[in-house]
Amino acid sequence: MIYNSPRGTSDYFGESIKYIDFIIKTSKDLFKLYNYSEIITPHFEYTEVFSRGIGENSDIVKKEMYTFLDKKGRSLTLRPEGTASVVRAVVERKLYSENLPLKLFYIGNMFRYEKPQKGRMREFKQIGIEAIGSDNPAIDAEAIWLLHNLFDNLGFKNLVLYINSIGCSECRRNYIKLLEEYLKPYNEQLCDDCKNRIGKNTLRVFDCKIQTCKNILANAPKISNYLCESCRKHLKDVFSILDILDIKYVHNENLVRGFDYYTRTIFEIISKDIDSTQNALGGGGRYDYLIKEFGGPELSSIGFAIGLERTMLLMQELGIRLKEDENNLLSAYLISMSNEFNSYIFKILKFLRKNKIICDSNFNIKNISKEIKFAKLNGYSHILIIGEDEFNNNLITIKDLNNYTQMKISWLDEKNKLLNLFKNPDYK
Ligand code: HAM
Repeated sequence: MIYNSPRGTSDYFGESIKYIDFIIKTSKDLFKLYNYSEIITPHFEYTEVFSRGIGENSDIVKKEMYTFLDKKGRSLTLRPEGTASVVRAVVERKLYSENLPLKLFYIGNMFRYEKPQKGRMREFKQIGIEAIGSDNPAIDAEAIWLLHNLFDNLGFKNLVLYINSIGCSECRRNYIKLLEEYLKPYNEQLCDDCKNRIGKNTLRVFDCKIQTCKNILANAPKISNYLCESCRKHLKDVFSILDILDIKYVHNENLVRGFDYYTRTIFEIISKDIDSTQNALGGGGRYDYLIKEFGGPELSSIGFAIGLERTMLLMQELGIRLKEDENNLLSAYLISMSNEFNSYIFKILKFLRKNKIICDSNFNIKNISKEIKFAKLNGYSHILIIGEDEFNNNLITIKDLNNYTQMKISWLDEKNKLLNLFKNPDYK
């Protein structure tokens, strides 16, 4: 092979397209129910959108961005996530002047230069929401409910919702000082990454997977004990609404997330069915200062994103079957015994497609039993055979591939019988 796809990218076809379509359709249907409308932003932005939005000291900005200069020497970056782009668009287009909270969703490809492994790619798809302009804990609870509802509708069972609060800038500043004090005596024992995080992105030490660091952090002070009164109340209110909604969650006091923009509520949804470090199917949180940082008004906001590939992989692994679209269940495969009959074949195809019946034709038959096998394998419910007799007398031979019964109908007088057959499987 001369050409391979770049490391960390994938091609999608066949079965995976069905999963992608299903996940997108399920998400869009649900977003509509929660009154979210779609926003589409560019795949690349000026680099500052992400370096300032996500934070200069985050892993994403430091190590994972696809950044390049365009022909005029401007620094552009392929978007590593959707939130900063959406916020840029909301501020630039003054979308916040509409009714608040402004509820937006997006679906699109993201790019991160990460070390590829199962469920971790360099180009991947996210489905996300952002609710702009409300600091009410009810909107946090509603976003978490929506995330949970989404995986529920996709057919997942063993989900865990982790929730934590990392406080506002005030309580976080005090807490980080305390944490840094606590870590000082352990400095030599910490891994190089953690040593580097201290002072720049100290909270991220909680993300470290190295056992020595984990042991040190086990006894570290927890941010939940140092939240200010208002942040403490905010989290409590989120929890009580989730209780009303009967949504189970775990207050994970070690949860931190990789973006500097987060404040207060952060959350992740994981599946208990996979034992992997890459098991977060989705995650999000509140960001109360980001709109202002982008030059907009002070507008508290919250959002989340899920990874489409991770979701699809796990659905396939767990054997979660797709709920078939009922309109797509029945379909016809036309077998033409000769090229001479093409005009007749096209008439039938036109009629079926106009009536939204999925159909196709081989146009040029080689072996009828092979064609029947092909139709069966490809999920067609019926084959329509056009041979000499059918062509000359305007007939169609129909074979039901479920029970192999066969009948002949007249094209001129019994067209509707054909439609009924596909719309109602019991019709004989
Ligand atoms: P995130 O946790 O970085 O959050 O990404 C959200 C989801 O995207 C992850 O849970 C995971 O399923 C998927 N994901 C992330 N990186 C990769 C990768 N390299 N390969 C495959 N899937 C991946 C955000 O991006 C935030 N913008 C979410 C948010 C929205 N917060 C507020 N609003």
